[in-house]
Amino acid sequence: MLKATDWDKIDLNLAPPIEEPMRQYYFMKKAREIVAEESRKLGRRLTADGETFGCQMNAKDSEKLIGILEEIGFEMIDDESADLVFYNTCTVRDNANQRVYGRLGLVHSMKKKNPHKRIALCGCMMQEPTVIEKIQKSYSFVDLIFGTHNIYKFAELLVAMYSSDRMIIDIWKDTDKIVEDLPAQRKYPFKSGVNIMYGCNNFCSYCIVPYVRGRERSRNPKDIIREIECLVDDGVVEVMLLGQNVNSYGKTLDEPMSFAELLQEVEKIEGLERIRFMTSHPKDLSDELIQVMKHSRKICRHLHLPLQAGATRILTAMNRRYTKEQYLELAQKIRREIPDISLTTDIIVGFPGETAEDVDETIEVVKAVEYDNAFTFIYSKRTGTPAATMPNPTTDEEIKENFDRLLKVVQETARKRVGRLTGEVHSALVEECNEHDNTLVSGRLSNNTIVHFPGDASLIGKIVEVRLVESHGFYYIGELQ
Ligand code: 5AD
Ligand code: SF4
Repeated sequence: MLKATDWDKIDLNLAPPIEEPMRQYYFMKKAREIVAEESRKLGRRLTADGETFGCQMNAKDSEKLIGILEEIGFEMIDDESADLVFYNTCTVRDNANQRVYGRLGLVHSMKKKNPHKRIALCGCMMQEPTVIEKIQKSYSFVDLIFGTHNIYKFAELLVAMYSSDRMIIDIWKDTDKIVEDLPAQRKYPFKSGVNIMYGCNNFCSYCIVPYVRGRERSRNPKDIIREIECLVDDGVVEVMLLGQNVNSYGKTLDEPMSFAELLQEVEKIEGLERIRFMTSHPKDLSDELIQVMKHSRKICRHLHLPLQAGATRILTAMNRRYTKEQYLELAQKIRREIPDISLTTDIIVGFPGETAEDVDETIEVVKAVEYDNAFTFIYSKRTGTPAATMPNPTTDEEIKENFDRLLKVVQETARKRVGRLTGEVHSALVEECNEHDNTLVSGRLSNNTIVHFPGDASLIGKIVEVRLVESHGFYYIGELQ
């Protein structure tokens, strides 16, 4: 981030610098003037609202976008009536796309009443050419569209948007560029996501992510450590290292480094209490990583290990590159080495050609691994992926039946598994006051389970010892020790 004196040195009479991030600071200063002028005309501060769909990566990207908006003078509000609304979109399943179109309909009527209103769209959905065509044709009131590779340019794009009456579209197919040192707003003062890599090279046959997030690229370890040190200085006690496949971190760096090695460096940061990461691909999860987790004081006792399907036949068609047996062996090895760990997973039901017998195999794995939680999804066809052209003889009714059968087992297993700590005392990071009952606060255990217990806002951000008194399926009711 720039110091006040560095802002003074930016001369808007000169052409914008070519180098990043200075170019973006130039445009932030320019955008500040535009926002100030608009505010003066309206006689009030300009407001902005960010609506985020999808995963933790998108949540992190939105924090960067909000950081830029605050830097240039917007007041952030949580209301789509704001003067500027951005939608950070997801396209991993079709229902996420449909929700965005629904919201655009709503915001269009608001724009008719407020001619100053501006609407920006960004994120994964915008990386799909058919989506852009549809928006140009049917949602021409949108002011700005950009993708996943150029969010760091938000200030520059906003300046272009406020200087034009036409829709501004800036989408890049891919990039190897990583721009450091831009502002970011954090949703929580005490915990933060930290990108360690971008993109994905795995091309699971059902998944759109490699097409919309581009090729894998890792951030320099020095930049990651520096960012976490700054976060810790600023009060952060827990970080979540983010990447589509963190286990292949560092492979493409000039000086290659493994994810386990990076974790050991992060562990050394004084003042940092907890380390989480997301997501691990089973095929790349190394023994080195298991050993580092086992001996770590800070890495949380939780591993999200997407299974996707239980039958090897389906795993092969999905291009997951492991068999049912290999997955089970890996899960057993992890449990043997780190007995108190909680495992969670993602499962897709209804992949082309998946039968009830295949789903029985998935259920078998769920029972054997005993997940603390599993996110179950019905397969959604994504145009452009290899699976989109695979025939699917299974009917929607059969898929729904298979899904319900699996969900029942997932819930039963999780309820039993989550309750195993009842009566014990564990540390919890207090995250917020309970929405429904303001005499309670909610904390997160190292293994990611939530515990609600009597307390007040002064506990937020603190790691406290809590007795887990009652298990309620997916969470505990506890008491402060
Ligand atoms: N249909 C359904 N679920 C999907 N996922 C990814 N692509 C699809 C798809 N086409 C799920 C996977 C992944 C999670 C983030 O989303 O389970 O792990
Ligand atoms: Fe998609 Fe597979 Fe990459 Fe995960 S690892 S983002 S499921 S292609």
